[in-house]
Amino acid sequence: MERVLQQHAIGLIAGLLRERTGQVISEDRRWRIDRAIEAVLRKRGIARNGDILTLLTQPDATAVEDELVEALLNNETYFFRDRQVFTQLATTVLPALCRARTESRHLRIWSAGCSTGQEALSLAIMLIEQGITASNGWTVELVATDVSLGAIDIARRGLYSRFEIQRGLSVGQMLRHFSEQDDGWQASRQLLGMIRYEVGNLLERPMHGPPFDLILCRNLMLYFDDTAKRAACARLHAALAPHGRLLLGGGEGTLDRATGFVAAAADCALYRQAGQALAA
Ligand SMILES: C[S@@+](CC[C@H](N)C(=O)[O-])C[C@H]1O[C@@H](n2cnc3c(N)ncnc32)[C@H](O)[C@@H]1O
Repeated sequence: MERVLQQHAIGLIAGLLRERTGQVISEDRRWRIDRAIEAVLRKRGIARNGDILTLLTQPDATAVEDELVEALLNNETYFFRDRQVFTQLATTVLPALCRARTESRHLRIWSAGCSTGQEALSLAIMLIEQGITASNGWTVELVATDVSLGAIDIARRGLYSRFEIQRGLSVGQMLRHFSEQDDGWQASRQLLGMIRYEVGNLLERPMHGPPFDLILCRNLMLYFDDTAKRAACARLHAALAPHGRLLLGGGEGTLDRATGFVAAAADCALYRQAGQALAA
């Protein structure tokens, strides 16, 4: 009986995650739900797994649901993830976008599904290294969103463990942009001041403001089903400027033309809106 209740709970929780975030947990990854249930129960001093159903039907179920969803989101990230992609951004994509914005000298960049901030910080470091800064007359709006409140809280603090700071940053970047504290490595005010972090669900709310020149949406749609992927692509398409570029994660497969995007580079997951001429 306990096992039947447990299976029922797992189905409910998988449905909850899908409804709230679009993420689908396949059968072979259902052990992650067991882990999430255990963590939520442990926090409340409850030993029997079947009791998660009781918690999910009580008046404060929303708090339990929030915790389960947070525990199930995959927040894996690191600085300059897929470094060659950042090299391509710095050497070809950004210069072309800057040429398209020569007059306004205003760029808008969105890191969608930014997790704990390493991707947005990598972009900020890249902008500084490329001289695309206020002191050179550029205004750059760097917006970073994630559906996970916990991840955004960490990103806003900008404090990273020794393990995290060593994943992807060169020693020079680490020393120039972070300072060592008792409890970790703190991102500089300059870096944090360049990024606006927001809690946001890619599937729910259109982004406000003018369209973006560059959108990174990497390793977020990996576990979306086709419906969620289509909806996400429609949001990304609506948010991208006509000359803009969308970058997906390396292992995410390709977007077909029906999404409104076509490949903009042969060797990385860079897309542009179909029908738009390539920027010079
Ligand atoms: C694996 S991390 C990738 C982080 C970063 N983009 C990278 O590639 O290193 C995926 C992030 O997407 C977020 N996410 C999942 N579904 C989302 C949704 N519907 N809207 C916004 N963020 C979402 C997760 O919370 C997680 O932080």
